Amino acid sequence: MNINIPANVNLKNHLESLGYMFPCGGKGLCGRCKIEAPLLKPTKLDNRFLTKDQIDAGIRLACDKFVEKAISIECDFQLKPKHNKPEDPCAYAIFNDDFTEIGLLDDGVIIDNIILEAKEPSANSLRAQFNSNVIELFEKYDIAKAVTIVFIGTFERIEALTKLPLPITYGEMYDAIDFQLPGENLYIPPVPIKNIASSDIIELLDTPDNTLLISGNSFFFTGHDIVCVNIGKNPKDNLPNNINNTPYIDSDFKRAYMATLKYFIHKFNPKDIITFENNQVTINCGARIVERRARYLAAELTISNRKKAALNKIATRCVSISLPETDEWQSFFTNIKDY
Ligand code: FES
Repeated sequence: MNINIPANVNLKNHLESLGYMFPCGGKGLCGRCKIEAPLLKPTKLDNRFLTKDQIDAGIRLACDKFVEKAISIECDFQLKPKHNKPEDPCAYAIFNDDFTEIGLLDDGVIIDNIILEAKEPSANSLRAQFNSNVIELFEKYDIAKAVTIVFIGTFERIEALTKLPLPITYGEMYDAIDFQLPGENLYIPPVPIKNIASSDIIELLDTPDNTLLISGNSFFFTGHDIVCVNIGKNPKDNLPNNINNTPYIDSDFKRAYMATLKYFIHKFNPKDIITFENNQVTINCGARIVERRARYLAAELTISNRKKAALNKIATRCVSISLPETDEWQSFFTNIKDY
């Protein structure tokens, strides 16, 4: 849709006054408030979340811009929903390394969500972050509690938060009260492999076979078994998706990452390679950029037993491999060239 913006306005305030929603409240945390506005100068925020190609094509983020001269922008912002009281309220939370997302659902549809800065993986800080924010959403929609809460996220955060013995292969429903949460049930989707986020496993739902999914420094190949490689974390880098852009990234780590990726593509010859936004390395190797679906799939999981069963099936097929120090591997490592 096309929106005319008058001169001398703060773009975020202006769009909010027209009733449009900013996914993370305009806090500059999510990179999802994209607009087409080539006349606006790219900012640090644009460079952080957008690829060079997107910036060259005139894509910008809307939440940190001041518009000096009247312009017209293209965007597909959603209007804020009317505050109808949900009939079947559920909630989800995604606890990842770089953000926490909390959302409210009605009958499997997201009606509101907020994106917050990630908290350290400790039960108290994660639970306090979830409870205070979800209760704010409940108050906004006049709800006492959720029927079901879904928690997905990194292995260490789910482990810290639930104190369940991970890994777990089958998603399960628990009493929310046992976890001091404002709901009746708590659904924990499977977290079948150490060091992998259940938000990545969820992304594999409905993904065709022979697809390579690259998420941060983990690669998932959906073959006969779902093979997953996690090459570990660069201790100096909290943003593995920015691997090409981060100036202080350790070059050995980058080299190992690129070599592993190339090895993986050669070994499995995937039909399709997909990744998420701003993963510059993988974009350069021909991966298709797709939107993360974890929030929508989390929403569907609250109402669909079929999806839960499909997810369990995926989890039982997950195997983790560490690349062996074979000659083949060594030769790839030594001959690696940057993509
Ligand atoms: S609304 Fe999240 S970055 Fe703009």
